[in-house]
Amino acid sequence: MYRSPSEMSIAIKTPNEIEKMRVAGRLAAEVLDYIEPHVRPGVTTAELDRLCHDYMVNVQGTVPAPLNYAPAGYQPYPKSICASVNHQVCHGVPGDKALKKGDIVNLDITVIKDGWHGDTSRMFIVGDASILAKRLCAVTYECLWLGIAQVRPGAHLGDIGHAIQRHAEANGFSVVREFCGHGIGRQFHEEPQVLHYGKPGNGAELRPGMIFTIEPMINAGKAAISELPDGWTIVTRDRSLSAQWEHTVLVSEAGAEVLTVSPGMPAKPAKLG
Ligand code: MF3
Ligand code: CO
Ligand code: CO
Repeated sequence: MYRSPSEMSIAIKTPNEIEKMRVAGRLAAEVLDYIEPHVRPGVTTAELDRLCHDYMVNVQGTVPAPLNYAPAGYQPYPKSICASVNHQVCHGVPGDKALKKGDIVNLDITVIKDGWHGDTSRMFIVGDASILAKRLCAVTYECLWLGIAQVRPGAHLGDIGHAIQRHAEANGFSVVREFCGHGIGRQFHEEPQVLHYGKPGNGAELRPGMIFTIEPMINAGKAAISELPDGWTIVTRDRSLSAQWEHTVLVSEAGAEVLTVSPGMPAKPAKLG
């Protein structure tokens, strides 16, 4: 039977490996729980980075995966978390600029525990924000869960992308094309690429034991992006607001199991059942 090369290289995790991924996923989500009360007007993203770094290393005994991460063509990433504010799409490098009331910020946490990665991000609204900013965050969260709802054995990656794209565009927003979700395990980024747009039935078929992230980046304006001179931070080309949410998800016999769970994680949107 023919299988595409990408499909052949998607790892099927063993029950033991899945248990390690549950631990790593929970720890990543718990960093977001920990940092939430610190995301206030006046705090700098460098301070949030330091707090998360110290919590991971000293409290959890985890390794912050972003620190010195250097995929081909990139300089080593200089910080332990990504903090993407307002028109920053992803990979925002923490710095000395203070957050202010009305900002929206994505904090993206990836930990390594016992050699296994957990990767999750959430949006935080600083103080209060505009109706548009709040709607963008809410719709992007719905996009994440509509993607998760497609995950079951026999479904295809394109089903996930299609569900996300449809909801984003129905709300007048656009899907970033250059960055996607990814397989995850012993490596931070593995096969497959999980596009946040696509057509039902396209792409690799999902099988129990696959683990990947879903992490839609949705722009209030146009989809085009640019990279800042720091070599990492991605912004919307039109400087419109951008939002992102991320979970690490296991394809289970029953459907999907979200691995990046914690006591403080926001509930699944009520209207999705
Ligand atoms: N956590 C990001 C993701 O979801 C990747 C960040 S790479 C870094 O894939 F080097 F910027 F941290
Ligand atoms: Co990811
Ligand atoms: Co991430």
